[in-house]
Amino acid sequence: MQCDTLGIGLAGVGTVGSGVVLALDRNGELITDRTGGSVRLAVTKALVRDPAKPRPAKLAADLVTTDWRELVHDPAVDIVVELIGGTTDAFEIVAAALRAKKPVVTGNKALLAERGVELFALSREFDTPIHFEAAVAGGIPIIKTVQDSFIGNRIHSMSGIINGTSNYILGRMTDAALTFEAALAEAQALGYAEADPALDVNGWDAAHKAILLATLAYGFPIDPAAIHVSGIEQVRPTDIHFAKTLGYVVKLLAVIREHADGAVELRLQPSFIPKSHILASVHGVFNAVAVQGDAAGESLFYGRGAGQDPTASSVVADLVEAARSLRQATGHRGFLPYRENGRILPVAETSTAYYVRFDVTDRPGVIAEVAKILADHRIGISGTHSPVNPDNPDAEFLDMVFLLHTCPFGKLQTALEEIEKLDCINSQPVVFRIETMG
Ligand code: NAP
Ligand code: HSE
Repeated sequence: MQCDTLGIGLAGVGTVGSGVVLALDRNGELITDRTGGSVRLAVTKALVRDPAKPRPAKLAADLVTTDWRELVHDPAVDIVVELIGGTTDAFEIVAAALRAKKPVVTGNKALLAERGVELFALSREFDTPIHFEAAVAGGIPIIKTVQDSFIGNRIHSMSGIINGTSNYILGRMTDAALTFEAALAEAQALGYAEADPALDVNGWDAAHKAILLATLAYGFPIDPAAIHVSGIEQVRPTDIHFAKTLGYVVKLLAVIREHADGAVELRLQPSFIPKSHILASVHGVFNAVAVQGDAAGESLFYGRGAGQDPTASSVVADLVEAARSLRQATGHRGFLPYRENGRILPVAETSTAYYVRFDVTDRPGVIAEVAKILADHRIGISGTHSPVNPDNPDAEFLDMVFLLHTCPFGKLQTALEEIEKLDCINSQPVVFRIETMG
């Protein structure tokens, strides 16, 4: 079959954008063959901030622009790929492309989680799709799994590790005793981290991805302000050591679960998970998402969650789907709201067991003071420990750790607010969930 080449307007030629150019150079002919000759793709315009910057992807100088309008409105551009990141210029590019009825491919989870409602409304209005496989879990095809493969399932839950940078940092702190800062620098050099790495370590990159997954699974737009997010910034070697001693590993875990009344629990927190659980073996930049469907039961999706080639793999798959939809007028329209009364379960009502670390000024009775407040709030204690520094056994300041029985998070927060006021407590307590992963 003969086909015209479809033109790609590639907005962003950084880590992922360069990966897309390299993948098309490498496998463009293979793609054309696999689509029965119906899809031939070529970059016809590319947007960057600094055209002089050296990059691994070679593009003819006349294809490169610094003006996104030139890219979107170029008649040689049929499909717009947004890989610049952020929620401002990226929004303008995607909105303009949809208005011009040019299908969009993006890997930008922040954009879709924060401003997806407006963009998917435009997608419907202009009958033009937004594809976003690369936005969640890098090279793992989890978006298509939820949109297509599980369409006949009621999804009970999705949980997993969906930020490669955090997982990489936790692994390097655990296995190589690296400092947080050194491990983050490695993740940045490897192309895993966001342009603003605060999003990786404060949990919000993973939260954006969890919002997208939950939106697709449960059919209502989710306000980022309604969910509970904490990241790995507060994880210290002492927590990692303690987890290990107790038979757990520390992971930044996304939990998405539908309750019997239809409320959706959605939270991101550093968590202790049993060493024997399969997610404990997810190392480095790898991600894994466990999906529990009423028909399929539990399925686990595992692969590289960030980085140039894995992410480009997802972008290219979307490009082919976008090209097919242009040729055959079929395909996704992204998120379609269908549940009118969707509700996020307040985090205060979510229950697990906990590990809580306090930074205390040591003196006789501190454990009793903390324990009394916990008892007043009817929160059970399953263990307590104060790691002693062998070089300084009489240290005035120390970490004191409590393991607590299952209770609602709101109850724990109330107790912690009271404990924080004790004059022996020096900073905000650090809380980890202890997940049974049942
Ligand atoms: P990156 O390496 O920082 O690349 C960003 C590219 O966009 C650069 O080429 C930059 O130009 C260009 N750019 C940025 N702002 C621009 C603006 N206002 N106008 C024109 N050009 C602009 O980022 P990345 O890691 O490839 O990530 C891109 C997107 O993919 C983000 O949304 C990210 O969340 C997502 N993503 C990344 C990964 C990953 O592993 N890195 C995985 C999944 C999804 P210059 O090169 O001239 O500076
Ligand atoms: N910064 C992200 C991560 C990129 O580390 O998971 C992939 O979305």
